[in-house]
Amino acid sequence: MIRVDIRPLADCPGQAARLAAWHVEHWGHFYDPADWNLALATAELEDHASRRGRPTTLVAMQDEAAVGSVSLVDEDAPEFRGVGDAWLASLFVLEQARGRGIGAALVRACVALAARERVPRLWLFTPEHVGFYASLGWRDQGAATLRGRSVHLMDIIPA
Ligand SMILES: CC(C)(COP(=O)(O)OP(=O)(O)OC[C@H]1O[C@@H](n2cnc3c(N)ncnc32)[C@H](O)[C@@H]1OP(=O)(O)O)[C@@H](O)C(=O)NCCC(=O)NCCS
Repeated sequence: MIRVDIRPLADCPGQAARLAAWHVEHWGHFYDPADWNLALATAELEDHASRRGRPTTLVAMQDEAAVGSVSLVDEDAPEFRGVGDAWLASLFVLEQARGRGIGAALVRACVALAARERVPRLWLFTPEHVGFYASLGWRDQGAATLRGRSVHLMDIIPA
């Protein structure tokens, strides 16, 4: 049986650079490289590895290798600063590991961490995965535009 554990990044030494490389490869084209690049993404994740509370990152580990991650942060996009102050961000599962429930497990673990942190309302934005998050209890709070791209804002009351 394939076993996947979800752990704080603090408990997965040396994984920050690997996660940063995935994130920059997948989302880098949305940003000016001067604002967000591999070095900055790695530094941010190394900072997340220094604590177990927000802002921090959870990692899905399979056979001691990271296969996915999710972050719980204070701000995801500055454009949405006025919307909320706790965000699920950077959900990512390696392509070869998708479709096995790891993404859903990471979302649930992030919501559970937010509940432990007494976050009253958790937000995310997504361009294309409204159905996925809705199936996990998130509410669609409507469409918005982020850097010329249409996204949906969603929220959940962590419990
Ligand atoms: C989105 C992502 C994290 C999903 O990870 P995953 O491990 O494949 O997800 P799961 O296996 O947990 O899927 C859970 C369920 O959601 C469904 N699902 C997955 N993507 C979906 C989507 N876009 N819309 C609706 N349902 C979706 C799956 O079919 C599965 O349904 P089931 O339980 O009925 O079989 C993954 O595809 C990914 O990393 N994509 C690239 C990065 C990305 O887009 N991140 C999200 C940013 S908002």
